[in-house]
Amino acid sequence: AGLALATLLGTPAMAAGMVVGFAQVGSESGWRAAETAVTRQEAEKRGVDLKFADAQQKQENQIKAIRSFVAQGVDAILLAPVVATGWDDVLAEAKEAKIPVVLLDRNIETKDDSLYLTAVTSDQVHEGKVAGDYLVKQVGSKDCKVVELQGTTGSSPAIARKKGFEEAIAGKSNISLTRSQTGDFTRTKGKEVMESFIKAENGGKDICAVYAHNDDMAVGAIQAIKEAGLKPGTDIMVVSIDAVPDIFAAMAAGEANATVELTPNMAGPAFDALEAFKKDGTMPKKWIQTESKLYTQADDPKAVMESKKGLGY
Ligand code: AHR
Repeated sequence: AGLALATLLGTPAMAAGMVVGFAQVGSESGWRAAETAVTRQEAEKRGVDLKFADAQQKQENQIKAIRSFVAQGVDAILLAPVVATGWDDVLAEAKEAKIPVVLLDRNIETKDDSLYLTAVTSDQVHEGKVAGDYLVKQVGSKDCKVVELQGTTGSSPAIARKKGFEEAIAGKSNISLTRSQTGDFTRTKGKEVMESFIKAENGGKDICAVYAHNDDMAVGAIQAIKEAGLKPGTDIMVVSIDAVPDIFAAMAAGEANATVELTPNMAGPAFDALEAFKKDGTMPKKWIQTESKLYTQADDPKAVMESKKGLGY
């Protein structure tokens, strides 16, 4: 059906006929759902037969999915690795079977980078730095206690976004990171953890800002702040990463302050790289970097939200 659609639309069906396995993390966030939707759209457009496996945030499920893709003899594998370590054995099996692997949106830690063809990701340390620089600028010389909602423990964005943010506030004696805990990139856990931070920090009155590693946790935190009788965006600043429609709605209502954009279209560049590689062995860059743009309340959040329609949202 994909091939038929590609031919009908007159789009270049270079990848037509390719069978690609996609080992996805899960559906923990709005951004993740959009990435899945865009990957399906890109596959359909190009005539790629996409085999989708939802790992429900568990590495063991992703490893099983990769082994099953290898057994099926797919032409390539897309992997959005839930955590950064522990991939060498299974990726060596894919390499042995001559199946190229492209990493999507998250990185892995390995000594052997020949285990994957390329990684399509943002600069996740930079994302944290952009969020932190924004906060530093807003706070000025005021004293500010920040609480942090981390992403999934051991995942590359959780590690890197923490690092980048800490780099931004380093040396600012008026800004301190007082509490930091994982909310697993989900709205529910983001809310739960924020509730516990609020309880521990004088009903939230001692918190000046929350930095969340993704928008879904920020949306959960906004709910917790409101339930505590405080105003998110004003009493407690809210800064996060992803740029999903819900955070623009919160920004439009004055309840969130800023977000750093992460495109859900990782599959487009990934399929381009695979097509070129399959055609004549062209080796892509080892890292295909996507942009990290800051959006604030000053950027007409409603208009930005509209402009994102169709991007998997
Ligand atoms: O790896 C990207 C992160 O994973 C997104 O920021 C987050 O929303 C998702 O769960």
